[in-house]
Amino acid sequence: MSGVNEIRSTFLQYFAKNGHEPVASSPLVPRNDPTLMFTNAGMVQFKNVFTGLEKRDYTRATTAQKVVRAGGKHNDLDNVGFTARHHTFFEMLGNFSFGDYFKEEAISLAWNLVTKEFALDKSRLLVTVYSEDEEAARLWKSIAGFSDDKIIRIPTSDNFWTMGETGPCGPCSEIFYDQGESVWGGPPGSAEEDGDRFLEFWNLVFMQFEQVSPGERVALPRPSIDTGMGLERIAAILQGVTSNYEIDLFRRLIAAVEEAIGSRAEGDALASHRVIADHLRATAFLIADGVLPSNEGRGYVLRRIMRRAMRHAKLLGAREPVLFKLLPTLVSEMGRAYPELVRAEALISETLKLEEKRFLTTLDRGLILLNEASQDLAHGDSLDGEVAFKLYDTYGFPLDLTQDALRARGVGVDLSSFQSAMERQKAEARASWVGSGEAAAETVWFAIREREGATEFLGYDTEAAEAEVRAIVRDGAEVAEAKAGDAAAVVLNQTPFYGESGGQVGDTGVLKGEGVRFEVEDTQKVANGLFIHRGKVTEGTLKRGAALELVVDHARRSKIRSNHSATHLLHEGLREVLGTHVAQKGSQVSPDRLRFDFSHPKPLDASELARVEELANAVILQNTSVETRLMAVDDAIALGAMALFGEKYGDEVRVVSMGEPKGEKAAYSIELCGGTHVRSTGDIGLVHVLSESAVGAGVRRVEALTGAAARDYLLEQDARVKRIAATLKAAPSEIVDRVEALAEDRRRLERELTEAKKKLALAGDGQSASSAPKEIGGVSFVGRVLDGVAAKDLKGLVDEVKAGLGSGIVAFVGVADGKASVVIGVTEDLTSRFSAVDLVRAASEAIGGKGGGGRPDMAQAGGPDADRAQDAVAAVEAKLAS
Ligand code: ALA
Repeated sequence: MSGVNEIRSTFLQYFAKNGHEPVASSPLVPRNDPTLMFTNAGMVQFKNVFTGLEKRDYTRATTAQKVVRAGGKHNDLDNVGFTARHHTFFEMLGNFSFGDYFKEEAISLAWNLVTKEFALDKSRLLVTVYSEDEEAARLWKSIAGFSDDKIIRIPTSDNFWTMGETGPCGPCSEIFYDQGESVWGGPPGSAEEDGDRFLEFWNLVFMQFEQVSPGERVALPRPSIDTGMGLERIAAILQGVTSNYEIDLFRRLIAAVEEAIGSRAEGDALASHRVIADHLRATAFLIADGVLPSNEGRGYVLRRIMRRAMRHAKLLGAREPVLFKLLPTLVSEMGRAYPELVRAEALISETLKLEEKRFLTTLDRGLILLNEASQDLAHGDSLDGEVAFKLYDTYGFPLDLTQDALRARGVGVDLSSFQSAMERQKAEARASWVGSGEAAAETVWFAIREREGATEFLGYDTEAAEAEVRAIVRDGAEVAEAKAGDAAAVVLNQTPFYGESGGQVGDTGVLKGEGVRFEVEDTQKVANGLFIHRGKVTEGTLKRGAALELVVDHARRSKIRSNHSATHLLHEGLREVLGTHVAQKGSQVSPDRLRFDFSHPKPLDASELARVEELANAVILQNTSVETRLMAVDDAIALGAMALFGEKYGDEVRVVSMGEPKGEKAAYSIELCGGTHVRSTGDIGLVHVLSESAVGAGVRRVEALTGAAARDYLLEQDARVKRIAATLKAAPSEIVDRVEALAEDRRRLERELTEAKKKLALAGDGQSASSAPKEIGGVSFVGRVLDGVAAKDLKGLVDEVKAGLGSGIVAFVGVADGKASVVIGVTEDLTSRFSAVDLVRAASEAIGGKGGGGRPDMAQAGGPDADRAQDAVAAVEAKLAS
């Protein structure tokens, strides 16, 4: 029995033997098509070869392609776990002809593979053809010897394959395997076709057209072939099992799930095991290709898949993050065929753990809400969309997770009220940003880009050049000229000014011509490669068509170069010190400083930070030249280049390397990068990390300075140290111990001072009235002004004296910082006759206060007239005497 790995090799080798170039799978995030969310078929990477736009040095190819069908035109997410053959991620085996062979050879090659190499029983095979495709039907008859009942004509779009809204397309012919009567289902085209008995496992597409727009279809330059065989399906057939989830690969994944959770894959639990095994593959492969969970676009599809798997793990009884524990099994099963999985293993594992931790905190509460809101619903009912929206918005339940949770009970979700809740929230958000006016201004750039093409960037090699003014834009509209004093944006045919991108800020500088000068305050890149120079005309009139001399602010650009190169060194240093799960999450490179955000689950301690800085400075001291090369993406990967996560690259990429070779790598740091860099690492001079902080869950940020800015900063620190040392009359090396000792002394003295003040206050200082009680109106009274005693210490003193009196009244007025505060205490036995609150009111009046407050036995007040403190005591005495 052949395992998945052998079947894949057999397929590729068979087509290689038949003159096909084996080509590696392209990433799941398509590089050559902005309209597609994920690579959804083997032909995606060859799209431009089919249409004739791109030439390769082969006309036949074969691949095992990673495919995700969970979003966009081909979306299988909802079926996964509930059918025997749907996946979010799967492998598609294919053979391709680019204007080489067509239908006849495609059918022959397929028939030969299926019946000879795979030795499938002919009597179990049947095919469909597009109803208008007589030729295909005839060919099947002669090549396979099929009788008419084995060739089913399908008139619908099922047998006309299209990639998406646009792209190459054509009629297709699908090969089916009859799994026998024990499995429910009918042949294609019959009412029972959705059953699993007749399993479609290979689709041969006769590519003849290109869908240019939804309404327009043109012929391809030459008829071509695109086929797709589901690897998991053919494996099921060859292994004699009726579900993809029973093939060797899935059996091992499901066993790992059972072990990790301690559950059995049987009965009701079976679907959950399958969902987890399937979603683990999609998750791991998507992260390896640069997608990270987020709240929009591709990242949101990934998050939905991850959370759906997490809910099913929960259903099976998992309490802790568990999905990351399954990863080693997946990597050992598929890592040989897909080395990117091995390279990204650390990142996948960290990302899974983090997302699981985050979601588990709200999952339980969300499920309780869901259960409460749906307990009275019966089969056929719908959950209120407002509840589904709350689950989405507050508990992080993607809509399809809620739907998935209710599906088994036959309960749906009211989508229209869900949508209105969503719209209401969006409208509120929109209301807060309308009025910025930016959207209208954007369209003008696309028109210019269309007319002028992309701006050629010269700034890697030079900071000065000449160019022609191609467009001037003021207030969002194109104009023919701009006069002195006008703010404008200028488009040139070429420029050495770097347009803000990849975290590096745009250049500034000057554009000058005969009698005209334009100060560039910022440069940006818009509309897919159009550089716009924003600034002001400071002399003469700037006209469209004028030739100008362009000069970038050299000093500023030099600082930016240093900061950008240092960012690469810190990135590599962080990976070395913290681990290879560190991936760039953003950066900002400006002339003043640099900022680098990266994935890491916890704060860095001082020694880690120091180590990173030390590694970067060591490479600076090596002073090796910084190499920039343009190369094919594959070569860059072979070189070990970083930053492959989450970026879109063309066929050629810039690869920036710096530092001496390290291990197997040709240089210390190798990154794909479009920015500008120093010539030699020594040009950076010095890098100093200022701080480390959190930016979001699982993302940390370091900020740093380089060159003169780092030196200035450290000199300033040094001067401070020297000033402190001089004040302390100590050597700089002693100041830390000395300051610590001083702080300790100060704490001790403060304690002693407080004690002394208390003692003094209670003992009497010989000037003001003594603390000995006197009799007023038949009660013992102690009243005093305490100099230097702050409000916070008064109450304690009053309590002490009150306790000493047994029965009596205490009034202390503290004077500190030019203010007076009063605390009055009345012993319990006297509160029926005298209220501390009344007494404090009288005292407060004397010191210009607002009356104070408290309880009958204890009240306090404050006032600005510190020099009338004695009057406050007198006021209390008077009150007692009256
Ligand atoms: N592109 C065809 C498919 O995906 C082969 O079915």
